[in-house]
Amino acid sequence: MTLFPEMCQAVYNDALFNIASNKGLMEYHVHNIRDYSHDRHRTVDDYTFGGGAGMLMKPEPIFEAVEDVLSDKKEGEEIPIILMTPQGKKLSHAMVREFSCYDRLVIICGHYEGFDERVREHLVTHEVSIGDYVLSGGELPALVLCDAISRLVPGVLGSDESAQTDSYADGLLEYPQYTRPPEYRGWKVPDILLSGDHGKVDKWRRKESLRRTMQRRPDLLEGISLSKQDLKLIEEIKEENPELQDLI
Ligand SMILES: C[S@@+](CC[C@H](N)C(=O)[O-])C[C@H]1O[C@@H](n2cnc3c(N)ncnc32)[C@H](O)[C@@H]1O
Repeated sequence: MTLFPEMCQAVYNDALFNIASNKGLMEYHVHNIRDYSHDRHRTVDDYTFGGGAGMLMKPEPIFEAVEDVLSDKKEGEEIPIILMTPQGKKLSHAMVREFSCYDRLVIICGHYEGFDERVREHLVTHEVSIGDYVLSGGELPALVLCDAISRLVPGVLGSDESAQTDSYADGLLEYPQYTRPPEYRGWKVPDILLSGDHGKVDKWRRKESLRRTMQRRPDLLEGISLSKQDLKLIEEIKEENPELQDLI
């Protein structure tokens, strides 16, 4: 649900979204909130009661747009109605995974100074932020959310791309990766990756994933269960990187 449908449609017509819809795995429908305005000027915003700078999105067009689109909702069907707002819960992999389990989602994009509070109170089920900064509209945040969800839908990514090894999928950051050439300007790819020994490669990747997470996002380690093998690797990493000694 947006006041700028062309902006969303342009992105949906391209890249991952196009592939997902051509494969019949996803459908993206863009609805213009302005189509639900009540006057011939197609007004969707108004001044704030109590004064203050900027305009607010009026409640009626948003409520009616959502109700119209969900008029075919079946009894018992659960459909998250997501408001994109910098005041929402910060988007995470866990939230994306949860949203990817639903058959249908409604995403509402704001503009101007935001929404009449009754939209939050009586219409939406989730409020989502893409980070602690303010953008001028909810379209880019909504597309970020849609992209992240689409990648988790089985079949959307090609067989040589995998969402399973991406950062956050198993709670850790992804290990470093290399492609050809094996040596560039004297910088060599680690020998183990060229060895053809899959067992050793897997172990190296796990260790580097742990190392990278310890170095960049130690907070992530608190939320995951580590195997005995992981704990052994962590001890090795601590010996190799004394600055990480105090972690865990
Ligand atoms: C200029 S912002 C309004 C900000 C609002 N006055 C506030 O302080 O919370 C306009 C719209 O952009 C979207 N938006 C801006 N930043 C966002 C963020 N970090 N995450 C999600 N949506 C955002 C929301 O839909 C918001 O209603």
